[in-house]
Amino acid sequence: MSVNEQYKPLLEDKTYLRHFWHPVCTLAEFEKSNPSGHGPMAVTLLGEQVVLARLNGTVTAAADRCAHRSAKLSIGRVCNRNGEDFLQCPYHGWEYDKGGACKLVPACPDKSIPPKARITTYDCEVKYDIVWVRLDSSFDCTEIPYLSDWDTDGMQVIVADSYIWNTVAERRWENFTDFSHFAFVHPGTLYDPFFASHPTVNVNRVDGELQFKLAPPREMDGIPEEAPMGDFDYRCTMPYAINLEIKLWRDDSRFILWTTACPVDEKTCRNFMIIVREKDGQPDHMHLAFQKRVLNEDQPIIQSQWPAEISNSEISVATDKVSIQYRKWHRELSMAALKGKEEFRAVLRSNVTDESAS
Ligand code: FES
Ligand SMILES: [Fe+2]
Repeated sequence: MSVNEQYKPLLEDKTYLRHFWHPVCTLAEFEKSNPSGHGPMAVTLLGEQVVLARLNGTVTAAADRCAHRSAKLSIGRVCNRNGEDFLQCPYHGWEYDKGGACKLVPACPDKSIPPKARITTYDCEVKYDIVWVRLDSSFDCTEIPYLSDWDTDGMQVIVADSYIWNTVAERRWENFTDFSHFAFVHPGTLYDPFFASHPTVNVNRVDGELQFKLAPPREMDGIPEEAPMGDFDYRCTMPYAINLEIKLWRDDSRFILWTTACPVDEKTCRNFMIIVREKDGQPDHMHLAFQKRVLNEDQPIIQSQWPAEISNSEISVATDKVSIQYRKWHRELSMAALKGKEEFRAVLRSNVTDESAS
């Protein structure tokens, strides 16, 4: 039996992910990608090569392939003609407008342009200083994930640089929401290993989010000062976002650790992190350094999980409830999307209340 047969993927069809908004880069990364400040920039989303460019003030996304002879538009440039911005192909200079239509063929400017001379464009938005892309808008029932307190006056915000992990986005999500690894992967960083066992929590599906709370033991010893320890309240917009609001034990202030992942391809994810906190007098770099320390503890373990795609063969126990519910919802969404828009919308909006916590 081959490895592929032995470890069949849990999510056999992942086309449903095309219906969600995904982060592809931070706005700062986009602006730094080209001296123009407007791109073009190449990104990969769900295995597709996508070009980003800011045309007439709006960041746009399109397939990174010229309709003429298939050159990558991301190595072209943004040009301006008569006050309008175009994405110009590096090979023969065809110019595309923000709707994806070719508006100039420099080699024969007097001839009419073939109507098929266009590139596929995708939904693209900038929110939370991150560029988001949705490859398929035909279901039109998904939203950019929830992030609490982004706009709240008086909060301090850090948008971290994105980082790549060699695993699938589902594994990254599960790692971030996994309680029982704290004692083993983060002893003395986030957790006191004496408290390895923990109760199960209620996991609710509410309006496209998985919601659950965890109160770590306050008696824990040896946790560094800079660790944002408190009571954890998770709101996780499907498929990959996590809004972890922490009520800090030290002063009851709010500290939001928000993360999400871009499914780059079948074995890579690009991760994003935003920290929103009440004014705490501490420098941004201290919080970033602490999170980096945690990530460095997680990364080798998560990248060791194989195959990268979650397999049907994994064994779960009661305290894996968050992961169990997450996988179940993904599977339901995957299958519903194959049936159509109404089925997908019904599963995405299904509300399920759990009252079985111990
Ligand atoms: S390949 Fe793009 S203009 Fe020819
Ligand atoms: Fe971890």
